[in-house]
Amino acid sequence: MKRTFVKVFLFVVGVVSIFAAVGRLVPQVEEHPPVKQAVTPQSTPEELASMGREILHSSGCLICHKDSETGNERGPDLRQAAGKAATRKPGMGAEEYLLESIVQPDVFIVSGYPKMMPSALGPPANLSKAEVKAVVAYLQSLGGGEPTVKVLAEDVTAAKAKGPVNLGKALMGKHGCTACHKVESEGGEIGPELTKVAASREPADIMKKIIDPKAWTAPGFEAGIMPEGMGDAIPEGERREIVAYLAKLSGKQYGDAAAAADTGADSAASLWSHEGVRLGLVIAVFNVVMLLALAMARRDRKEGGES
Ligand code: HEC
Ligand code: HEC
Repeated sequence: MKRTFVKVFLFVVGVVSIFAAVGRLVPQVEEHPPVKQAVTPQSTPEELASMGREILHSSGCLICHKDSETGNERGPDLRQAAGKAATRKPGMGAEEYLLESIVQPDVFIVSGYPKMMPSALGPPANLSKAEVKAVVAYLQSLGGGEPTVKVLAEDVTAAKAKGPVNLGKALMGKHGCTACHKVESEGGEIGPELTKVAASREPADIMKKIIDPKAWTAPGFEAGIMPEGMGDAIPEGERREIVAYLAKLSGKQYGDAAAAADTGADSAASLWSHEGVRLGLVIAVFNVVMLLALAMARRDRKEGGES
């Protein structure tokens, strides 16, 4: 009996310490997301390069380019951009060329590639000059060199004020749709304009097209250009926002009931991340473990009595 009690006691102490340790770790990991840095004239070359990487990865550039072994090849491999930059245009320095190729891509077209790159100052990237310079710093560091670009105060203040935009519209920029499609008079011209697409297509079909670009081919356009796998890359909630936005541009509604269910799921998710609920969960699990331990102790005692 005494031995059982000691066993149960040690077991409970062990479980409580594990919970305490985990409980201390969890909130620290979850509740301090990294603060997003801004590009400033004071940023060091290393900071510029690392922010440039973030910017490049979130501005739709990788729809056409790659900066690692895997990626897209509609445009040149960006790992070589800095190395080739000095030789692209006679009389133009590498840094100057990189800046021009991102801000005014149509001035010089790399041979063997089509003219399709949108300026990074417009959609979908909508970068400020300071952000473009950070991207150049990243490309320079990718090429193995030291970043030489200098961010000036005017590059920062010249940043376009980004007013509130419709979430669906912003997501079309984030996921690169507007690199190829024009919506509300902004965007590329590789694919059809989408401002009124929902007038002739049902919203559910637009969703289908995002998930499976082979679903149909818009008349007058080449098949196989719209990237496969976008549906997987874009979270379902964001896909819905995009379709709802395109539907609304033609006065249609999309997925009200489904959207309500979505927000239900969302708030459930945020409920679980609430600290009080987490603590409650820990206490509940602790109680269950205690009950199990008691049951075990009782069984042990019974067995002990029998023998
Ligand atoms: C819709 C496809 C597309 C998107 C999106 C795109 N590019 Fe390009 N990019 C190209 C193509 C095609 C070329 C080569 C033709 C040319 O010079 O315009 C190119 C050329 C370049 C070059 C010159 C490379 C060299 O070797 O000379 C750089 C640098 C570059 N892009 C950077 C970017 C950055 C940074 C972004 C994101 C802000 C971006 N691109 C977005 C298609 C794209
Ligand atoms: C690399 C270029 C490219 C990107 C990125 C791209 N598309 Fe497309 N898209 C096309 C082309 C080209 C067509 C026309 C050929 C076809 O239907 O496949 C097209 C067709 C469409 C159509 C059919 C239009 C019609 O009138 O039938 C829809 C809808 C569409 N795209 C939505 C999107 C959305 C939403 C995104 C972003 C999640 C996106 N596309 C990203 C190139 C692109």
